[in-house]
Amino acid sequence: MKISVIGCGYLGAVHAAAMASIGHDVVGIDVDERKIASLATGEAPFFEPGLTEILSEGIASRRLRFTTDMAEAQGAAVHFVGVGTPQQKDGYAADLTYVNAAIDGLLPFLSPGDIVAGKSTVPVGTAADLAPRVAATGATLVWNPEFLREGFAVQDTVDPDRLVVGVPEGDDRSADILREVYHPAVAKRTPFIVTDYATAELVKVAANAFLATKISFINAMAEIAEVTGADVTQLADAIGHDARIGRRFLGAGIGFGGGCLPKDIRAFAARAEELGRGESVNFLREVDAINMRRRDRAAQLVVEALGGSVFKKNITVLGAAFKPHSDDIRDSPALDVAVKLHGLGAWVTVTDPEALKNAARVHPQLTYVDDRDEALRGADAVLVVTEWDEYRRELAPEHAASLVNGTIVIDGRNCLDAAAWRTAGWTYYGMGRP
Ligand code: UDX
Repeated sequence: MKISVIGCGYLGAVHAAAMASIGHDVVGIDVDERKIASLATGEAPFFEPGLTEILSEGIASRRLRFTTDMAEAQGAAVHFVGVGTPQQKDGYAADLTYVNAAIDGLLPFLSPGDIVAGKSTVPVGTAADLAPRVAATGATLVWNPEFLREGFAVQDTVDPDRLVVGVPEGDDRSADILREVYHPAVAKRTPFIVTDYATAELVKVAANAFLATKISFINAMAEIAEVTGADVTQLADAIGHDARIGRRFLGAGIGFGGGCLPKDIRAFAARAEELGRGESVNFLREVDAINMRRRDRAAQLVVEALGGSVFKKNITVLGAAFKPHSDDIRDSPALDVAVKLHGLGAWVTVTDPEALKNAARVHPQLTYVDDRDEALRGADAVLVVTEWDEYRRELAPEHAASLVNGTIVIDGRNCLDAAAWRTAGWTYYGMGRP
């Protein structure tokens, strides 16, 4: 099938390459010339496992190309719109500038019978607002939210755990066309939910709100554990055995960040307010507040561990990305904690396997060192804030001890083997652990 993908950022670039990898003829379109130039040569403009491979394969097979010319969308049967919906500069609501621009830019090139499939995360009600503009060309708008996780984006796109499509009332054809698009997943009997616009839009924000709530719930328990001497990791294991609760997303630590969860829960709360139902999701403000408190708590732990002040102390921060397997530093809790410590007068050295370039661009006041061991040398305290295998599994505590000045480790992700670090002579601090 001929497919266009408007917006080649994180979501769009992965989607375009994944659609080509399952046999479609795909054109990716974006206004950013540098991004398009990079993608056109098979190079991903960001780190995502497996993406470079499917980009190169797609380009070599001529099933995948990239352009800045919107006119090239003409002739595609399905046009995916995967542009960004960032947080507004002066508030919490989502900024729909790019979605509107993409739809307006696409309109002149639509033909009757085309499907425009929105993938961006939008406030509920957006699709209903946009639909008449698309329908005026004879094309149909559907909403097909994306649930991909960074670090697993290719896998999540090719083999999702569910597909959701919001269609206009009584429209069976559009859903059938999307079934054709996602044929390998459909053949595997992946749940395929056909619904209305509002439900499709809400599925996405509700899923992210639930995940964020789960993380903040366990972090709230960590706060209680901290004043009672309990261990939140054991607590999470124990409640996680209840299948109704489940252990995943009960990792207490410095909390969630990234380009989705923080902005999506804020936009959801703002939208609910507009709808006169602010109170229904008031708890999301609490979820956000708990999450932000954990970053302060991590900085406070470092201060306590160093005897009350970090002034002119060497602190090595292991991790900059908002989570492992990513070079994304958007709303990264790791960097937030590093910046807080720098603000308290510490000499902060940051290392990360993938995210240093991005971090240095945004926070030039910190010192960045590529080599992990080099970064550890002379540290008065070590802070782990992104649970990369390089720190969690591959860093032997004995070896780390031979490099540092002070054997104090603060485990902001509760990802280290506390007993092993203590045996190697370290004073170990976890989050919500005695
Ligand atoms: C998220 C959703 O998972 C995905 O379905 C949606 O499409 C986009 O938003 P992503 O932002 O890639 O994906 O990251 P995710 O793996 O959900 O992690 C988000 C943040 O939560 C990270 O900062 C992570 O470190 C943190 N987290 C996750 C915890 O603090 N504890 C946990 O137990 C799990």
